[in-house]
Parts: sequence; structure tokens; C-alpha cells
Amino acid sequence: MRLDVVRAVEVLSGGGLVALPTETVYGLAADARQTAAVERIFDLKGRPHFNPLIVHVENQMKADEIGVFTPGAKRLVDVFWPGPLTLVVPLRVSAGISPLVSAGLETIALRAPAHPLAQLILSRSGLALCAPSANISGRVSPTSADHVRAGLNGIDLIVDGGLCEKGLESTIVQMGEGDKEIILLRPGPVTVENLQGATGLRVVATDQDQEAPLTPGALLKHYSPRARVRLDVLGRSVGEGVLGFGAEDLSLLGKDTPFYNLSEAGDLEEAAGRLFAGLHWMDGQGVSVIGVRPIPKHGVGIAINDRLERAAAK
Ligand code: TXA
Ligand code: MG
Repeated sequence: MRLDVVRAVEVLSGGGLVALPTETVYGLAADARQTAAVERIFDLKGRPHFNPLIVHVENQMKADEIGVFTPGAKRLVDVFWPGPLTLVVPLRVSAGISPLVSAGLETIALRAPAHPLAQLILSRSGLALCAPSANISGRVSPTSADHVRAGLNGIDLIVDGGLCEKGLESTIVQMGEGDKEIILLRPGPVTVENLQGATGLRVVATDQDQEAPLTPGALLKHYSPRARVRLDVLGRSVGEGVLGFGAEDLSLLGKDTPFYNLSEAGDLEEAAGRLFAGLHWMDGQGVSVIGVRPIPKHGVGIAINDRLERAAAK
């Protein structure tokens, strides 16, 4: 057993904060039943209290203790857990989850992460762990332990699990009235095609830019690097870093142009995995503007473009 896993269980049980790897991004975790610990998450991240947290559980059985799953919701869990899918379901008040976690809502967001270290910490502790991404609210999410260290101070322990495989936060869904459709609250690694294929149900997207989005955290400006982000850039401008997608003629770029290719092969999964690392890297280069090559808007490209549009919003 890794010593840091043993230590993580102790720290979390004692009301401390642990940054841990998941397959999506690093989370800043606390025991979801200890209000003082949950409060520290909001403080450390500078997160507004109206924005509820996702609760991470080991498996479906643990999730059933906290939320009410309709047959349609169960079906999604059967297919996609453990994995990067979060379900918003009615909360069981008797589960004793701190009201801070759900921001006073009658629903709760639940997911079982697939990363082996997250799974180990959940199973060894038996806890339900609330964990937002381990970054200052509004900044780019961390996909490595170094990103966490560089972006947040005051965490009791960081468990290093290498690079996050998916690289984008989980897809968030809610079942519609009578399980007749799936409401997509946040696009992510589980795509609309994946959801439709598994259930045969229609997937309807919410307009997250409305005044009171169904997912309170989906504010338009989000995922912001220090640099300004310009989308669908084809050429290059002096002093601008370029985030590439697909083959790039480096001789045309100029050798002083900071360049980071999300996927030379034009592979959307690979690009998703490297997106936040690319934004962090650009900030490290000190560029003031990041030009992003066009990225196709299908499959996981929907989630990539969602994050980029928020990063570009000022
Ligand atoms: O992949 C992920 O989901 C990562 C890792 C750490 O698991 N976590 C993550 O958490 O992205 P965070 O806090 O950055 O995003 C949580 C999102 C927010 O947009 C929040 O508004 C939404 O989940 N959310 C939480 N509870 C909700 C609820 N009851 N109803 C609707 N949206 C909810
Ligand atoms: Mg976040």
C-alpha cells in the first residue's frame, strides 16, 4: 500500500484536505459530512457558496445511500461507472451530507471516479468525498500534481497520481421527467453520442449562459489562463502563443512563437487530455495572447470547445 494513500485516509478522516488524482482532473477532497472541512474547500478556492460540489463515492451502493436513483439513472451508472460521468439526483437528507456541499439544493451531484488511487482512497476510508477541481475558482483546472502545487496553497496533502488521462472535468447529467430524456448540464469526456448509444434516449442540452443555470458553476467566464484566449485562429500574430490541433507547418510559425500542439494527429481524445496542460504551459511561457486553432465540434470536441469558449470569455 502506498504510504501517501494511508496518510490521505487519515487526513480526510480527521477533517483535512487532500488533493487527489481522478481520471478527469485533480480534485480537492474533504469528507462531505464534516462541515468545517467542506468550508475550508470554499475558503481555499475562493469559491462562491452558491456553487455546489460533486460528491465522490466508491460505487453505486454508496451512491444509493446519498441520492435517489430512478431506473434511468441506474442504467447510466451501470454503463459508465466508475468513470467520468456525474449524475444530479434528489438528495437523501438522512445521509448527513453537509448542507454546504449541495449549496442548499434538494439535489446532489454524485460520481464514482475510475482512477485507481481515488478508488483506493474511497474504499479504504469508506467516506463520501466532496471534491471540486483543485484550483482557485475560475482558473484552469489541474491535470498534474505540479499544476495543483503551483496553483493552490494550504492543502494538507497532495497525492501524486501522474497526469490525468481524460483531462477534462466529468460530464454532468440529470434525468428528465419520467426518465424520458437526459439533460446535459456540462459536456465532458462521456459524449452525447455515448449517452444516446447506451440508452436510446434523447439528450437535451441546457443553455448554460442563462441567468440561473441549472448547474450553478457553469458561469460563462471560467477556466481562465492569465493570457487572453482567441479561438479559431488560422494564421499567427507576433507575440501570440499558438495552441495547435493537427499537423502544423513549424517553418511558417516562426521559431520564437510559443507553440503547443494539442494533438498532432488531430485526435480529439488526445487533445482533451492535453488541453489544460497546454493552457498552463502557455501561462508559464508568459504570453499575453493564446491563439487556438479550430477544433471540430463533435464527440469530445464539444467539451473542448465549451471549456475554450469559457476561457476566452472576458
Ligand atoms: O471531473 C470532475 O467532475 C471534477 C473531479 C475532481 O471529479 N470535479 C469538478 O468539480 O469538476 P467542480 O466543482 O469544478 O464542478 C462541479 C460542477 C459545478 O458546475 C456545479 O455547479 C455542479 O457541478 N453541481 C454540483 N452539484 C450540483 C447540483 N446539485 N445540481 C446541478 N449542478 C451541480
Ligand atoms: Mg472546477
